[in-house]
Amino acid sequence: MNIQVLPLPEDRKKPRYTDESQLGFGRLFTDRMLLVEWKAGQGWVDARIQPYAPFSLDPACLVLHYAQEIFEGLKAYRWEDGSIALFRPEMNARRFNLSAARLCMPEVPEDLFVDGIEQLVSLERDWVPGSEGTSLYIRPTMIAVEPVLGVKPSDHYYFYVIMSPVGAYYAAGFNPVNIMVEDTYVRAVPGGTGEAKTGGNYASSLKAGLEAKKKGFDQVLWLDGVHKRYIEEVGAMNMFFAYADKVVTAPLAGSILNGITRDSVLKLAGSLGFSVEERPIDVNDLMADLRAGKVKEAFGSGTAAVITPVGALCYKDECLQVGDGGVGSLTQKLYDTLTGIQYGRIADTFGWVRKLA
Ligand code: PLP
Ligand code: COI
Repeated sequence: MNIQVLPLPEDRKKPRYTDESQLGFGRLFTDRMLLVEWKAGQGWVDARIQPYAPFSLDPACLVLHYAQEIFEGLKAYRWEDGSIALFRPEMNARRFNLSAARLCMPEVPEDLFVDGIEQLVSLERDWVPGSEGTSLYIRPTMIAVEPVLGVKPSDHYYFYVIMSPVGAYYAAGFNPVNIMVEDTYVRAVPGGTGEAKTGGNYASSLKAGLEAKKKGFDQVLWLDGVHKRYIEEVGAMNMFFAYADKVVTAPLAGSILNGITRDSVLKLAGSLGFSVEERPIDVNDLMADLRAGKVKEAFGSGTAAVITPVGALCYKDECLQVGDGGVGSLTQKLYDTLTGIQYGRIADTFGWVRKLA
């Protein structure tokens, strides 16, 4: 599909940031966006890269009432030689379409998704920051824009991509976070939308997150919605627990996100000689293993969160330090290897990196 590139008038160019160490996460957006529309009876039409601009939306449109919305998150990395790489964008395209199917939205052809992002990043390449720990965060999104109050799948959608130069997702950077195991609220249930990357999952998690913050925790770790017993994931990352010779994570059973970083970590840990287990993790067993010192390290994985070490885990009234509370050696090794591949410092033997022309 041909993507039209509309002119970017001088007065629509935004002031550039001057200090990359102050970027934070997702507050600043680049000059241009990709926008493609889907209309019933026509399919995908009017693909264009245009100046970044607000939408004018009918107040009745479906996304505003019934949350028919999906999104993705991936990054463009600037290498030391100035070139730019994406990390496994085809995986985001596939997951986007799984989310679309769950939310009764049209699939975006994989080449439109990936080529559109490549063209947009190429045009905006000056926006990709270059200092340690920074990247250009890419946010593909689809919303239902038909103005009607009946509950039904929309007959009109916007697929759009916006981009934001970012630093670390957590203010603490690559430092251990404290996590509270949530035993009141649940995020997802079997048959629900937990596996889809859809806004409602995040809206419904806000209350638990706020309450945990008030108690001094950085994040909540969700348990399964039926037994409130098995570890699921954290709000923006999958969770891993490292024993002496193995790495354990929750299985993909339909209620957690199939993280692309999760998949990469499983492959990297395997290549480092660890055995990897995807299996149900009973929170009581996990706490017992932590108490006994068998769990050496815990960390989360995500595009925004990269690899985030966990310093302490609290469940009900018990708080346990993980390892020595600092960054464990495997966590550090995985962080270094993953970011090494993403930033071109380490050879990509997995075929994950996609260099921009
Ligand atoms: N779990 C949730 C709920 C997320 O929002 C994310 C972030 O995308 C992840 C896990 C990690 O997924 P990925 O590694 O694909 O970014
Ligand atoms: C990502 O890591 O890309 C995410 O989507 C996390 C986000 C909720 C900030």
